Amino acid sequence: MRLYFLRHGIAEDLATSDFARELTKRGRRRVANSAKVMKRLGLEPSQIFSSPRLRARQTAEIIAEALGSGVTLTEAVNFGFDRADIGRLTKHLSADDEVMFVGHNPDMSLLVSEMTGVDASMKKGGLARVDVIGRAVDEGELVWLIAPKVFDALQDGSKAAAASDSCQLTIPAQKLPATAQPVHNLIKHRWSPLGFDRERDIDRETLLSILEAARWAASSFNLQPWRFIVAPRQNRDEFRKVLSVLREGNQSWARYAAVLMIAVTQTHREPDAPNRHAVHDLGLAISQMVLQALDRDVYTHQMGGFFPDKAREVYQIPEGFEPLTAIAMGYRAASLDHLGAGHREREAAPRQRQELTDMVYNGSWARPAAFLKEGKA
Ligand SMILES: Cc1cc2nc3c(=O)[nH]c(=O)nc-3n(C[C@H](O)[C@H](O)[C@H](O)COP(=O)(O)O)c2cc1C
Repeated sequence: MRLYFLRHGIAEDLATSDFARELTKRGRRRVANSAKVMKRLGLEPSQIFSSPRLRARQTAEIIAEALGSGVTLTEAVNFGFDRADIGRLTKHLSADDEVMFVGHNPDMSLLVSEMTGVDASMKKGGLARVDVIGRAVDEGELVWLIAPKVFDALQDGSKAAAASDSCQLTIPAQKLPATAQPVHNLIKHRWSPLGFDRERDIDRETLLSILEAARWAASSFNLQPWRFIVAPRQNRDEFRKVLSVLREGNQSWARYAAVLMIAVTQTHREPDAPNRHAVHDLGLAISQMVLQALDRDVYTHQMGGFFPDKAREVYQIPEGFEPLTAIAMGYRAASLDHLGAGHREREAAPRQRQELTDMVYNGSWARPAAFLKEGKA
């Protein structure tokens, strides 16, 4: 479940009572701006729970109108809002739901800090996203915290940036799997797109963070057999070099990616000392890379369709190392017009998987594990 915590906007200092304090003009304008950014970010809370105090309620109503959500006023989100209240308010919601709470400090900052273990300080109009996994809604991961100033800057950003932002976080319905069990949002949202944004590059800091995630993968004997040949689009020669190694079918869409890579594994430390887990460990490192990338809205598409011998030749990859896959990475394109009809069709196709019973065994080979059936151990 995805929880959003929003502190109400700037309110007047004086009123007949604290309950009746309204948003100021500036407060309203800022909240309206934030609402636009939230919409572009793809926020879709099925419910907005708001404190009934006027400044919170007005904030919630502005957001609700922009996002097409309903507002429920509840004392639970008033002063004293705590983790038990969240449990009660969300108990009928499903793991896929997004919910927003609009309330007050110190409770908002305290709650986000308690749930995530991160010292969060929420300004008026600030918004935090906390993802909880499974049914325990009292703990979660702080995915981001947006200060009101950042909302202002995002709203002022260029239209082009806005257009490409807006498509990043909304995954097409056919690509969002109907998982049989709750899984982490990043796993749920990962898929292999063909439509990459040909304008938007991946900045150095993001790319380094993606590679760092691979670096910290587990590996047999900590041998870390993975190697990556990495070509950001800004380096045209290098990018073309990797592109030239891909099979034509993959070149046609991967040329729009922001970064191309060739993933290589060290299969042998000595000619007679093979590492049986070299391929496994490269896969682990790539898996971490893919999820870290997605956390920054960067999508990846792995490819077996490339010429390993050509890669070996172009990059003088020595014996004992095996180029295994190529990887395209980038932000998703707002439009798929640049793709051929076949690729557009593939983008529109739903994602499918075998059942757990087809892959999880015990007792004997190919016998679905007993515990997969309810009531069995
Ligand atoms: C090792 C590997 C090789 C792949 N090779 C290609 C490829 O050459 N071309 C391509 O379009 N997709 C390729 N894919 C992507 C798969 O087709 C894709 O992961 C699979 O259909 C599942 O779809 P999803 O990633 O969207 O869940 C490859 C994926 C992996 C992991």
